[in-house]
Amino acid sequence: MNFGKTNIILLLAFTVSLVANWAIRPNLSKPNVEYFPNMARSVPYDAFSYNPNFVDGMTLREPVEGTIVYGRMPLHYGADTLEAIRAGEELTNPYSHDDTTSQARGAALYGTFCQTCHGASGVGDGPVAQRGYPPPPPLKSERAIGMKDGRMFHIITFGQGNMPPYASQISREDRWKIVLHLRSLQE
Ligand code: HEC
Repeated sequence: MNFGKTNIILLLAFTVSLVANWAIRPNLSKPNVEYFPNMARSVPYDAFSYNPNFVDGMTLREPVEGTIVYGRMPLHYGADTLEAIRAGEELTNPYSHDDTTSQARGAALYGTFCQTCHGASGVGDGPVAQRGYPPPPPLKSERAIGMKDGRMFHIITFGQGNMPPYASQISREDRWKIVLHLRSLQE
């Protein structure tokens, strides 16, 4: 067999690479080299890691009593009907009926969040209701007209029956502005 010079060089290179591969194979019983060990093993305690500095061993602490989350004013009401009635007695809309900017904002939000079920004019004929979802009661009924602003605000905040709550999607100020719009629908 006639082995050319090139073939011999290639064979040699192949053998060298095989040997090198074998020689530098990882030793699985030892950890790899760590360039930035602090990234893998953080110096501070991780949120859910054991913490020997506290009696209960937890790193995440309860907020100090009496403190509130920044930007989250607590609303001291439960979600049921009695609480909705209480909200009606105790809360008043901080925005006035003459505040056309707030009213326009409320109308726009109504179009985004409420119209799908309640319909543009509030009679309960939105596309969701027309496709089989339990139709909402008209917002111009005697009941709804007699409802206090605070109770409507409570319903938007906590939901009612088949209506979902909106506290997580619509800010407190905006929920009051929607109430302004509900009032103007009732005129
Ligand atoms: C998924 C459909 C749906 C959406 C969206 C929805 N509602 Fe409702 N809403 C209902 C239903 C259904 C009821 C009746 C709930 C019950 O009492 O069982 C209701 C009830 C109400 C009531 C009380 C009426 C009464 O006579 O008791 C008000 C006020 C109201 N909704 C306002 C709103 C506002 C404002 C929005 C938007 C922020 C909104 N709803 C979004 C379905 C919806």
